[in-house]
Amino acid sequence: MTDPRFHDQTVIVTGAGSGIGRATAQRLAAEGATVVAVDVSAERLRQVAAEISGRVVTVDGDLSDQLTVDRAVAAAGDRVDGLANIAGIMDGFEPTAEIADETWDRVFAVNVTAMMRLTRAVLPGMIARGRGAIVNVSSEAGLRGSAAGTPYTVSKHAVNGFTRSTAFFYTPKGVRCNAVAPGPVATNIEAPFRSAWAQERLGPLMQTNIPALAQPDALAAAITWLLSDDASDVSGAILPVDGGWAAV
Ligand SMILES: NC(=O)c1ccc[n+]([C@@H]2O[C@H](COP(=O)([O-])OP(=O)(O)OC[C@H]3O[C@@H](n4cnc5c(N)ncnc54)[C@H](O)[C@@H]3O)[C@@H](O)[C@H]2O)c1
Repeated sequence: MTDPRFHDQTVIVTGAGSGIGRATAQRLAAEGATVVAVDVSAERLRQVAAEISGRVVTVDGDLSDQLTVDRAVAAAGDRVDGLANIAGIMDGFEPTAEIADETWDRVFAVNVTAMMRLTRAVLPGMIARGRGAIVNVSSEAGLRGSAAGTPYTVSKHAVNGFTRSTAFFYTPKGVRCNAVAPGPVATNIEAPFRSAWAQERLGPLMQTNIPALAQPDALAAAITWLLSDDASDVSGAILPVDGGWAAV
């Protein structure tokens, strides 16, 4: 018998209360990890912790607050082997001329700044041990201009740049950093159309070009692969997990 892939490893998973984060937390725990599950919803975390039969520590709080980042890292203890930056929010499909500052700031705070701060916090320990894996969740909106509003699209392009730059600097130190770019996934993410122009421009594309909804487990499979030693030579990749949408 070989050990499970994440035997004796501690992995921080953000957005673990729902959707892709929840499926990833479940899969990691099933494969032997101690999971530090972070989410703004304490209620969702309680449910996930009850479902997981392995080791799980929960941290509830808003990741746009540095304090939540600090609490997540403290809860992990002295060794973080993996980090899955999954928590994210959408915009209201606003095109550039219709962006409200609050939407822009909130989308960036959650999708970009929180990811940066948590990654910045775990890197020194990973570098010191010469080993670590980070996976960020981008989006089809990180690969094209026609999958969301402008704030979300820009935030996910930023996720890609952050992933590549982090991989560039730290792969030689033993820390891999990759991203997955999902197409549509059946989760609880909210994406209300707040723009008539976006509806007119994107509506027809959404009826023709977009593949069927994926299940969160399909994303968890790709994320855990990138976190695992099975992907030992993969770093700086932005992996579309989108039913082939990126090929269109
Ligand atoms: N569902 C899709 O179609 C889709 C497509 C492409 C990319 N994504 C990305 O996948 C990731 C996961 O989204 P999902 O679809 O599973 O959505 P989801 O809403 O089902 O899950 C996201 C979780 O993140 C948590 N969260 C949100 N803001 C937070 C904050 N500030 N601090 C802590 N936790 C917070 C939510 O409470 C929720 O439990 C996101 O980054 C999203 O942009 C989703």
